[in-house]
Amino acid sequence: MPVITCIDDLKRLHKRRTPKMFFDYCESGSYTEQTFRENTTDFQKLRLRQKVAVDMLGRRTDSTMIGEAVSMPVALAPVGMTGMQRADGEIKAARAAEKAGLPFTLSTMSICSIEDIAEHTSRPFWFQLYVMKDEGFVDSAIERARKAGCSALVLTLDLQILGQRHKDLKNGLSAPPRLTLPNILDMMIRPQWSLEMLATKRRTFRNIVGHAKGVGDLSSLMSWTNEQFDPQLDWTKIARIRDQWGGKLILKGILDEEDAQRAADFGADAIIVSNHGGRQLDGALSSIRMLPRIVRAVGDKTEVFLDSGIRSGQDVLKALALGAKGTMIGRAYIHGLGAMGEEGVTKALEVIRKELDITMALCGEKSVQNLGRHNLLIPRDFEGDYL
Ligand SMILES: Cc1cc2nc3c(=O)[nH]c(=O)nc-3n(C[C@H](O)[C@H](O)[C@H](O)COP(=O)(O)O)c2cc1C
Repeated sequence: MPVITCIDDLKRLHKRRTPKMFFDYCESGSYTEQTFRENTTDFQKLRLRQKVAVDMLGRRTDSTMIGEAVSMPVALAPVGMTGMQRADGEIKAARAAEKAGLPFTLSTMSICSIEDIAEHTSRPFWFQLYVMKDEGFVDSAIERARKAGCSALVLTLDLQILGQRHKDLKNGLSAPPRLTLPNILDMMIRPQWSLEMLATKRRTFRNIVGHAKGVGDLSSLMSWTNEQFDPQLDWTKIARIRDQWGGKLILKGILDEEDAQRAADFGADAIIVSNHGGRQLDGALSSIRMLPRIVRAVGDKTEVFLDSGIRSGQDVLKALALGAKGTMIGRAYIHGLGAMGEEGVTKALEVIRKELDITMALCGEKSVQNLGRHNLLIPRDFEGDYL
């Protein structure tokens, strides 16, 4: 087994072991990819304050997110088509999350269904909902999530229309891949991926096929999104969904102070400061740069989580120090999955946990709850001086 020291090691293996169209689907942002790049480079602008001669025994990374105990404040973000990175990918990731004591979020656009995850795990997971024009589909998805014992509904607000990702168009992304000569050759040089995929029955969007009206076969994420996602989603519709669900509600894709205030006043249990990993509005500022003003805007009214750009425990620490109560990771665990299946997701989580723990110690802190701005060196212009 190769020695894995960081998420980048897993990313290299992911690239080698997964068909190009799925690695590219993961490792891309929209349009020029400016926001995608800055999500990670802006974390590097924040620096850490080294503290010495502080007793570092008895450190703890455990915390809570929406009242649920977590072994560290990191949840697995919803990622569409995870089951194409590896056969049964969502089941594998959910199992690894459960073993690590962390929440797993299942995407609406997953390959494995809500029922598949419920059958293979025992920790209640979170279900991420995309609001479709077909209210019957939305209602039944909420009902299915309730029946599966999901402990939170994560409503994604920043993808009612799809930001273009050039690579997906060029690669002809679909699930399962079309059997063209280049695709067949690409799969043949990844025998483990191909054999595992042949052995599973889960190869298309199982939350949708058979559940949405008139959808028998669905391969293209792009055409489905463009046709079915509700472009008229607004706060009235969000309220309808909140009332129908009745449980914990997390609003995902907030990147603006006014939206954050609105979400907090609305009564969301948590908001996720996110630009969808740089996959939607190219030109938006990174999540980590937007975080401080959003934390100031909402105060204690709701829990603030952050995603987009986290690739290490140091990044988690920086987000917590800037006021996030929790974080979510997308690509960091997908790289683990594409590299080594369930074991790879476990590895990714271990890498992040160890980095968080050791960095916390070197910052002179024993608990994630004590992290704050005092642990950071923040460039004066970090938030930006924009009109
Ligand atoms: C390949 C991929 C697919 C994604 N699919 C979804 C999705 O189906 N639903 C959703 O709410 N967010 C989706 N996201 C966004 C993630 O939930 C999360 O916001 C993002 O990955 C965070 O950025 P990071 O990858 O830099 O950690 C996706 C992200 C990636 C990389």
